[in-house]
Amino acid sequence: MERELTLEFVRVTEAAALASAPWMGKGDKEGADQAAVDAMRAVFDTIQIDGEVVIGEGEKDEAPMLYIGEKIGAQKGGACIDIAVDPLEGTRLVARGLPNALAVIAAAEKGCLLRAPDTYMQKIAVGARAKGCIDIKASTRENLEKIAEAMNMRVRDLTVIVLDRPRHDQLIAEIREVGSRIRLISDGDVAGGIAAAMDDTGVDVLMGIGGAPEGVLTAAALKCLGGEIQGILKPRNDEEIKRARGMGFTDIDKVLTLEDLVTGDDVMFSVTGVTDGDMLEGVRFSGDRATTETIIMRSKTGTIRTIKAHHLVGKKPDYFKKDVLKYF
Ligand code: FBP
Repeated sequence: MERELTLEFVRVTEAAALASAPWMGKGDKEGADQAAVDAMRAVFDTIQIDGEVVIGEGEKDEAPMLYIGEKIGAQKGGACIDIAVDPLEGTRLVARGLPNALAVIAAAEKGCLLRAPDTYMQKIAVGARAKGCIDIKASTRENLEKIAEAMNMRVRDLTVIVLDRPRHDQLIAEIREVGSRIRLISDGDVAGGIAAAMDDTGVDVLMGIGGAPEGVLTAAALKCLGGEIQGILKPRNDEEIKRARGMGFTDIDKVLTLEDLVTGDDVMFSVTGVTDGDMLEGVRFSGDRATTETIIMRSKTGTIRTIKAHHLVGKKPDYFKKDVLKYF
């Protein structure tokens, strides 16, 4: 993929963040999500790509925009790119004004992003220092001991980030038994996975079950950051098993490696903060201005840029005012 696309993808997540940030604390997660989707879709249409949504808002019949299989971009018939989107990762976080809500996209060459079914996935994710040490099939103790050794830390000093869900009671008990520290989050395991792979976040490992599409997005970021993630699909019922099989997952229990989730080494990942968080400032509004903070990563070169943008609302093009800034 042309490296110039990085700035275009920054514009896409900036738009989703700008559109959803006014919904902070309004208690309306659907409204916040819809605003992000509308904005993201509008900006994608200005980019010279022939994109296809492979991770999106759902199947065509349940999502009018950014649905799986939707063609996006201004260059139909040009170079084909697969796109994974989560216009608003952490809809409840925005609705409640909590930290770490993000607007996220990943892009890769055709066929390189796993088409994950809309179900759950068990995940374990670490940064570069613990790459090669994790085994999702091994016990919690074994994983934490190996990660600690690789990171030259005591097991008790590791911090594991886990979604605060009853389904994790057993996992939490196991981590406590081993003695590592735990950070429970109410939502947002993409942010959790990225935090585990970035320096100075105070988080070393992500463990537990979250969304499968979020697993692919996390994998895209980890590929750029040199970290590692493993996943196993965890369908909730027969219907989800059937759907996963229909999408080609013959062995539902297969361990999905980073390479299975994101193939090759040409992926880009853009993430803009919506609410303030561990790695990014959220959107700030002041008069006719807004600021956004975005991290854009490219696996091919390993470059990671943080871009602070100052937006002057009055100077934005008409389509942007209409589709992105309508709640400004
Ligand atoms: P949404 O942004 O779609 O609300 O997802 C937030 C999230 O917390 C994800 O980060 C996570 O993977 C998933 O939901 C967990 O699902 P559940 O809330 O059903 O446990």
